[in-house]
Amino acid sequence: MGLNNPSQEAVDSGQTPQLVDRFGRRVTYVRLSVTDRCDFRCIYCMSEEMTFLPRARVLTLEELAMIGRAFSELGVDKIRITGGEPLVRSNVMQLFRELGRLPKLRELVLTTNGSQLAKMAADLKAAGVKRINISLDSLDPRRFRQITRVGDLDGVLRGIEAARRAGIERIKLNAVILKNRNHDEVVDLARFAIANGLDISYIEEMPLGVIGDHDRAEAYYSSDQIRADLSQHFTLLATTESTGGPSRYYRIPGIGSRIGFISPHSHNFCADCNRVRVTVEGRLLLCLGQEHSVDLRHVLRAYPGDHERLKQTLLQAMDIKPKGHEFDLQTRPIILRHMNTTGG
Ligand code: GTP
Ligand code: 5AD
Ligand code: SF4
Repeated sequence: MGLNNPSQEAVDSGQTPQLVDRFGRRVTYVRLSVTDRCDFRCIYCMSEEMTFLPRARVLTLEELAMIGRAFSELGVDKIRITGGEPLVRSNVMQLFRELGRLPKLRELVLTTNGSQLAKMAADLKAAGVKRINISLDSLDPRRFRQITRVGDLDGVLRGIEAARRAGIERIKLNAVILKNRNHDEVVDLARFAIANGLDISYIEEMPLGVIGDHDRAEAYYSSDQIRADLSQHFTLLATTESTGGPSRYYRIPGIGSRIGFISPHSHNFCADCNRVRVTVEGRLLLCLGQEHSVDLRHVLRAYPGDHERLKQTLLQAMDIKPKGHEFDLQTRPIILRHMNTTGG
């Protein structure tokens, strides 16, 4: 690319190389998608009819573990397992246990819809999972069903309870807020989080993939509007706390829960981006909202066991990490992959 990449300088000078992009941003957080499949069909994530990837195109659990190890050796200290719904992948616990043993990993974390947590929370805790983010957009069973198309609220609530009982250090709810679908529940969701000792992030919907059910521009409900709604009931104080993701957190005096806002439209956070994602096909995506990517599956399968080549590929990929996303709700989505193939 001809651009000066600090990570390449580190290789040349014999230091442990780090993942640094052209804008000086250091990548320390990787989101690994372990499946594109899901037992829900959330209206903002998928269309009703979805075709999932055939097995041969999907990375094996061993390949996923190799990628995790390569990243951790390059300074990544947080790996988030995502999907689709990661917990529907068979034998996925094997991957958690493998990643949980990486000596330099500070945080092994998970994003899930919660449907399988009732039976898996204790094993996840034992494998070293520190924090779990659980999607929850409504506390009304009928509405929950409408938003997820097929999901069962009760099963998710039991999953949240199981995660608490298993002693997961921190649990965060993720609520995608859509006007006229669930915007009137923001206060109830906060109350639920507070009552159960959970954090919560409210998310502005992002235009990934054609989803069919609703008009995204019409459904837009801004973080500022949500904060205004919450401020009618709570005193929200801005903090500088970070969980290493895009949430900006507020606190309510005397309350343990953090109230977060993920605002890709109204408060762009790309300047601080510290993360990349790997799709379950082994596509290293350098930005959620752009198509710049590198085919890791090809490297893994063309050069089996060549760990150094894999690491070099990751270092070089930093040169094509774009400055940021350009989401526009008024036009058709420019990113055609759905969130379930992207890994959030
Ligand atoms: P923490 O580690 O708890 O901070 O988690 P997180 O917010 O990074 O992860 P989570 O899987 O809970 O994601 C919450 C929302 O943030 C999802 O809608 C993601 O798609 C979105 N998100 C995460 N990273 C990015 C990003 O780099 N760009 C954009 N636009 N959205 C992101
Ligand atoms: N926009 C914003 N967030 C989304 N999620 C899924 N699809 C979208 C979208 N189009 C959220 C889920 C989950 C997280 C991984 O991403 O609710 O919490
Ligand atoms: Fe499944 Fe998560 Fe997508 Fe909902 S948002 S359909 S739970 S992958």
